[in-house]
Amino acid sequence: DTHDPAALRTPIVAVLGHVDHGKTSLLDKIRGSAVIEGEAGAITQHIGATAVPLEVVSSIAGELVDPDDFDLPGLLFIDTPGHHSFTTLRSRGGALADIAILVVDVNDGFQPQTLEALDILKRSQTPFIVAANKIDTVPGWNVHEDAPITQTYESQSDRTRQRLDESLYTIIGNLSDQDFSADLYWRVQNFQRNVGVVPVSALTGEGVPDLLAVMMGLSQRYMKEEMEIDVAGPGVGTVLEVKEEKGFGTTIDTVLYDGTIRSDDTIVVGGLNDPIVTEVRALLQPRPLAEIRTESRFDNVEEVGAAAGIKVAAPDLEDAMAGAPVRVVRDRPLEDVIAEVESE
Ligand code: GTP
Ligand code: MG
Repeated sequence: DTHDPAALRTPIVAVLGHVDHGKTSLLDKIRGSAVIEGEAGAITQHIGATAVPLEVVSSIAGELVDPDDFDLPGLLFIDTPGHHSFTTLRSRGGALADIAILVVDVNDGFQPQTLEALDILKRSQTPFIVAANKIDTVPGWNVHEDAPITQTYESQSDRTRQRLDESLYTIIGNLSDQDFSADLYWRVQNFQRNVGVVPVSALTGEGVPDLLAVMMGLSQRYMKEEMEIDVAGPGVGTVLEVKEEKGFGTTIDTVLYDGTIRSDDTIVVGGLNDPIVTEVRALLQPRPLAEIRTESRFDNVEEVGAAAGIKVAAPDLEDAMAGAPVRVVRDRPLEDVIAEVESE
């Protein structure tokens, strides 16, 4: 195997699930910032992207993730809103993702948006695991901050453990009703055939090491070939959101999943009517471990490589559409790139 590790991009992980089941809290726990407090109301109305480098994954996951075992650069998380009126945003996040985490509240179990998310994952054939969240709310729970699940599970009373088991088996049963064969993640041998369920608490961090270890392991084992990209090639991405930005005019929040985009590139973006051909004015990148939608001061960057969430400032983006393709032209004939965008 002579692969250049630099040619492997970060897997894109969508976090899906019913409203209030803890998607944002989980990411918040992972990045150790307070994104939740920057949100208007209880509803997450936008999709943001957060890059978590392998070193950070490993430092959170402790002995469950040895960085020497991996050559993928980390994980790029996309948060999605659970509220029922955001179906399109959700399906956009789901379709973009290489892999997904379906968050289910252990008390609340399967809910309408849980089923809807499952449907999106089924249709887009996205591999996923289930994070059975809020285990700290099981009556009698004895908290072990940030501990791996086996460790905290073993130190609960029999009664508490039984209560958790009941909730977990209900979730496994619900998955089975939807034709997904599932089991607790440590019993899963083949993650392509079976869905792994990881008990977690976004509040206490319990089980989060396991969640990250499973995501890294899954990506490395089953997705590595799909992560091989032409690192220096012209960028390919999708518009997540069209946004006014003070001092920059209309910008597009973009998830780049192949190649690179440079601050002097010409790009073609899917528009309301015709594809938009425009020149990048600025590439605005959230700093590592920051979230694009809450970051008020961006880093101005010359170039960014997949996978990444990047804000692109350019003229004439008023008619750009969320969900539309973004293509860097570079040294290809412009007509070809326009045709590519038109055919998407
Ligand atoms: P939407 O974006 O609106 O779909 O919700 P969400 O899935 O992002 O849920 P969010 O992270 O906003 O959490 C909803 C509520 O549940 C908040 O009050 C959190 O503090 C709480 N919560 C999330 N995870 C946990 C957990 O593991 N334990 C406990 N006790 N509370 C949690
Ligand atoms: Mg949220």
